[in-house]
Amino acid sequence: MADLLITGGAGYIGSHACLVLLEAEHRLVVLDNFSNSSPESLQRVQELAGARAETRLRVIEGDIRSAADLERAFGAGPFEAVIHFAGLKSVADSVANPLRYWDGNVVGSQRLLAAMAAHGCKSGVFSSSAAIYGNSEAVPIGETAPVQPINPYGHTKAAVEQLLADVVASGPGWRVACLRYFNAVGAHPSGRIGEAPQQVPCNLFPLLVQVAAGMREQLTVYGADWPTADGTGVRDYIHVLDLAEAHRAALDLLLGEPPQELVLNLGSGVGHSVLEVIQAFEATTGMAVPYGLVDRRPGDSASSVADPSQASQRLGWRTQRDLPTICRDCWSWHQANPQGYGPPSAPKPAPPKRVP
Ligand code: NAD
Ligand code: WQD
Repeated sequence: MADLLITGGAGYIGSHACLVLLEAEHRLVVLDNFSNSSPESLQRVQELAGARAETRLRVIEGDIRSAADLERAFGAGPFEAVIHFAGLKSVADSVANPLRYWDGNVVGSQRLLAAMAAHGCKSGVFSSSAAIYGNSEAVPIGETAPVQPINPYGHTKAAVEQLLADVVASGPGWRVACLRYFNAVGAHPSGRIGEAPQQVPCNLFPLLVQVAAGMREQLTVYGADWPTADGTGVRDYIHVLDLAEAHRAALDLLLGEPPQELVLNLGSGVGHSVLEVIQAFEATTGMAVPYGLVDRRPGDSASSVADPSQASQRLGWRTQRDLPTICRDCWSWHQANPQGYGPPSAPKPAPPKRVP
C-alpha cells in the first residue's frame, strides 16, 4: 500500500488507473483542474471501488502549473510516488495552439518535478505517447526507434521525456517510468466510466460510437490507399484497463527495485485497420456503422504498432482485452452515457440502425 499523488486523475486514463490503484489498496490524492474532465468521474470511481476504498481517495481541484496548488497537494502527502497524467492531448489543437501545449505539458511537468524534488518525492510514472515516434519506418515500433515527433503535441511529450532523463541523471534516488501509450480506447465494462471528450471528438472510437448511435450520419474513413492490407490506416488499440494495469505494475517495479529510469511502450503488439475496427464493432454490437472513404488526413501515418516485449519482460504485463472487448465496452459506456458525464439534456439522436 503506497500514498500516491495522481495528477489528471479525473481524466479518461487517470480515472481508470485510479480505480485499479484503489483496488490494489493504494491511497490516492488526485490533483486535477477539470479542464478536460468532470469530478463526476471520480465519484463513480469511488462507487465502483466500494466501501473498502471510502477513505483512500481524496480530490484536490488545482493546476499543476500553480506552485500554490502544488503546495496544497503535497501538503496532503507525503507521497511515495506521483503518477502524472495531467496534460493536453489533442494533436490538431496543439498545431493551432503550440504555446498552450508547451505551457500545459512542459511547464506543468517542470513545476511538478520541482515540487517533487522540494518534497523529497523522487518516484514518478509519466504519460508519454507513441506520438513521439512520428512516422516511424520500423513497425512494430521498439523503444529504440528514433524519437522524431511531427507535431507540437509530440514535441512536448519528447521534451518532458528529455527533462525526466536529465533529472534522473542529475543525482541519485530518482525512479522514473516513461510509459509510451499507443491508441487508448475502451471503457470500464460497468459502463460507469469511460472517455468523455469535452470538445467535438476527432479520434476514431468516439466518432464511431456516435455514428452507431445515430448522432452522426456516417464515419469518414481517412484514406483507402495506405500501404496496408486493405488500404486503411493501421493502429495498435489498447484497452484503457490494460493501460491502467500497466501503471500498477510499473509502480510496483519502480518502488520495489533500485532507482532507475524505465522507458516502455504500452500497446498490444497487434495492429487493426480502420475497416477491421468497423467490422469488429458491427459484429460485436450488432449496430451498423455507415462510412465513406475520403482522402488521407494530413499528418496521419500508414501504420503504428507497438513492440511491447520490453513491457512484458520488465513488468510481467501484457494486454488482456481484444478488439471485440474494446468495441463492447465502448458501446456500453456510450449507450449509458451518450453525453459523457454531462447532463442528459441534449437533443435526442436519430434512431440507430442495426446491422441488416
Ligand atoms: P484527459 O484529457 O482525459 O485527462 C487529462 C486530465 O488532466 C484531465 O482530467 C484534465 O482536466 C487534467 N489536466 C489537464 N491539464 C491540467 C493541469 N494543468 N493541471 C491539472 N490538471 C490538468 O486525457 P487522457 O486521455 O486521460 O490522457 C492522459 C495522459 O495520457 C495525457 O498526458 C495524454 O497526453 C497521455 N496520452 C493519452 C493517449 C490517449 O490515447 N488518450 C495516448 C498517449 C498519451
Ligand atoms: C486512428 C485511425 C485515422 C478518425 C491520436 C494521436 C496520438 C494519440 C492517440 C495521444 C487513423 C483513422 C480517425 C476518423 C478515420 N494520442 N480515422 N476516421 O491519429 O492514430 O492517434 O490519438 O497521445 O498522439 O495522434 O488516432 O483515433 O485519430 O485515428 O479514418 O474519423 O483512424 O486516419 O488511421 P491517431 P485516431
